[in-house]
Amino acid sequence: MDSVSKVDIAGVGALAGQRVRIGCWMTRRRSSGKIQFLQLRDGTGFIQGVLVKEEVDGETWEKAGQLTQESSLYVTGTVREEPRSPSGYELAVDGIDIIQIATDYPITPKEHGVDFLMDHRHLWLRAPRQRAILRIRAEIISAVQRFFDERGFTLVDPPVLTPSAAEGTTNLFHTKYFDEDAYLTQSGQLYMEAAAMALGKVYSFGPTFRAEKSKTRRHLIEFWMIEPEMAFVDHEENLRVQEEFVSYVVGQVLEHCRPELAVLERDVSKLEQVKAPFPRISYDEAIDMLKEDGMELPWGEDFGAPHETLIAEKFDRPVFITRYPTEIKAFYMKPDPDRPEVVLCADMIAPEGYGEIIGGSQRIDDPELLEARFDEHQLPREAYEWYLDLRKYGTVPHSGFGLGLERTVAWICGLDHVRETIPFPRMLYRLYP
Ligand code: 4AD
Repeated sequence: MDSVSKVDIAGVGALAGQRVRIGCWMTRRRSSGKIQFLQLRDGTGFIQGVLVKEEVDGETWEKAGQLTQESSLYVTGTVREEPRSPSGYELAVDGIDIIQIATDYPITPKEHGVDFLMDHRHLWLRAPRQRAILRIRAEIISAVQRFFDERGFTLVDPPVLTPSAAEGTTNLFHTKYFDEDAYLTQSGQLYMEAAAMALGKVYSFGPTFRAEKSKTRRHLIEFWMIEPEMAFVDHEENLRVQEEFVSYVVGQVLEHCRPELAVLERDVSKLEQVKAPFPRISYDEAIDMLKEDGMELPWGEDFGAPHETLIAEKFDRPVFITRYPTEIKAFYMKPDPDRPEVVLCADMIAPEGYGEIIGGSQRIDDPELLEARFDEHQLPREAYEWYLDLRKYGTVPHSGFGLGLERTVAWICGLDHVRETIPFPRMLYRLYP
């Protein structure tokens, strides 16, 4: 018997005329009585297997006939060019080793409700649309890392179990840490500030937990955040890094993920407009814009999804809303020296109604002001002594931000809901599978 090399479907283009073996699943079978067509998938791509009854042995013909949706097999055959196939190739099958015949695969080509699909998320991931989303998510992650690695940032991992809150105490996940109380991280930021004082420019990428009882299309209980932190960087410089960063990530997806964007039927012309610089409007200007459009909001209140959407509709690329009221923002944000009732912060609002994807700010560097903020916010000093030390021993102006990965994936992929942006979403009322 001649030796046949085991290959990935993605690589068959270079192997026309050769005999190959592929480990795969069968997704669909059609038969005309004299010819069987097998739609085969190995995770790297699709290929159509063709069996002509008169040309294959009876056993192979019969095995092909037994294959049901999601049955697993090794197939052998010769790769040949086929201009009518989407990949340009097909496989003239001459041998089949069945691994398992799958019976009653629950996800069929008919329409299923979202709850059913979420209950079968472990299988739903095999659908072309879900695979396209996961590929784009992976490209975004690698583009994020390239962007920061190429610009002299060091990747640093903050802890997941923490003794205190970073972003307010209302949505903390509590757990026991032996005899102590502990919380799952809400943001690595405070630790990243310590790392920036050691390494200058740092970023983290990790899971984040918020026990938010919000059942919206933008909220997850467990999500992934990218958090850069930079010493000697002020508010304006921070915004410039953010717009360069987001433009780069979108550009990389456009460069590397055209087939996946096509599967999702994403209007790429919208993404092609995403180029720095991004517009900047102040919180005050945003309030005025909303009023003009009949959506009045008293000064000092935070924006909700409808407000963000209305503002975003006025721009063809992400927009920064800057200088929010000090009252509604986190304790560590630096007040504007000319106007202390607002802070040097910005939220980046994605276009097309996808809402806030980045929250960031310049941090308070003055030790006395930071201490006063702890008292105002009634935060337990003991848990934060280490954080106050950062202002005692060589404090410097510094800034940073956090980009929510899933909201960014939802926007770039053009998805209605963040639940499809992560392999196994954790949402209010969903911990399974
Ligand atoms: O605005 P947030 O709360 O900012 C912080 O946590 C800062 N400490 C970040 C920093 O400066 N290092 O969250 C940042 C981003 C949001 O813009 C959003 O994209 C995402 O995290 N996010 C969520 N994504 C999904 N589900 C949730 N429940 C989210 N909460 C925030």
